[in-house]
Amino acid sequence: MKISEGEIKRLAEEIFPHQVKIRRHLHRHPELSDQEFETTRYIKQQLRNFGIKIRPLKMKTGVLGLINPQNRPAVAIRSDIDALPIVECTNLPFISKNNGVMHACGHDIHMATALGTAAVLNRIKKQIPGCVKFIFQPAEEQPPGGAERMIREGVLEDPEVKMIFALHTDPTVPTGRISIRDGATMAAVTDFDITIIGVGGHAAVPHNAVDAIAVAAEVIESIQKIISRETSPMRPAVITFGSIEGGTARNVIADRVKLSGTARTLNEDNRKLIPRLIKRTLDGVCRARGAKYELSIEAGYPVMVNHAAANKIIEESYTRLFGRRKVGETPQTMGGEDFSFFLQKVPGAMFRLGVRNNKIHANKPWHSPEFIADERSMYFGTALLTRAVLSKFGGY
Ligand code: NI
Repeated sequence: MKISEGEIKRLAEEIFPHQVKIRRHLHRHPELSDQEFETTRYIKQQLRNFGIKIRPLKMKTGVLGLINPQNRPAVAIRSDIDALPIVECTNLPFISKNNGVMHACGHDIHMATALGTAAVLNRIKKQIPGCVKFIFQPAEEQPPGGAERMIREGVLEDPEVKMIFALHTDPTVPTGRISIRDGATMAAVTDFDITIIGVGGHAAVPHNAVDAIAVAAEVIESIQKIISRETSPMRPAVITFGSIEGGTARNVIADRVKLSGTARTLNEDNRKLIPRLIKRTLDGVCRARGAKYELSIEAGYPVMVNHAAANKIIEESYTRLFGRRKVGETPQTMGGEDFSFFLQKVPGAMFRLGVRNNKIHANKPWHSPEFIADERSMYFGTALLTRAVLSKFGGY
């Protein structure tokens, strides 16, 4: 069933203009996590237009499309579908019509690339000995995320998925290039909320009160020491308090302070250790000062660990299509990504798709109101995913 790289590129080029229309529609109509109703409807409509089967899900958003559902095993492609609560500040002709919501992480590019790949693979489906699944997953941006729910709905079963690929746009990588990395690539996320409960009183009579602000200051300082003194300097970890709230007037001792923060680690041991140390530290400081506390810790996404076997397929496919020097190495980051849940179940990898193009100002960071992705990247992503899926089925 060998299909030449030239033929793959021709098919990707052929679908590209339609893909641009899809992407612009999605960009114009972004929806927040778990509210991707129109997005879900639109993806289904596109898949149906291509003649691709859809398996119903119990989830209110998200789509599972299948090529050759009768064949086994399966290879899957995953795209996230949600947007962010950001007021778009670009001059794109297809700027968001949904005020205050924006595809500022490139998930519109992910969807259109996955849909284009679905169209291409569907055209040559008779030559594919297995099943190809397209997993359009909601709520990547908002823990607990949509990945685990989709796995619970059985998207990796019947037929069993043997390998899964995903892409993420990267505004630091020029269009036409990709990057990959084996092993731990993105961080485990642990979010937490703390309430320090003191005893209010007059600013001039501190000995009859328990100052929740003073205790909060000590708690923040002490929790930062978890990173500097209790985790290995050889293993990256970070804790950030992103919000603090408390007090009503300068001459009143606050009885309550709320703190919220997030911990990121690239290592499973630290992921387990840090919540325990946060609790121990908070408990110790509050006891010392006679304060009470409430703590809620939400285990977010695990470390995202890419599998070398899947990266090898990506690297080889891209090299054959576009040349060796077009593949770089993804740096490790402390960002989180719920594709990690899929990678705990089946081998796979997420590659970074270059979308940087200074000429069109496509060089702003993710989640910026000025984020722009070069849509030509979809051609490269589509050719790559097509070649990678065929490669997994032994086509080369
Ligand atoms: Ni993203």
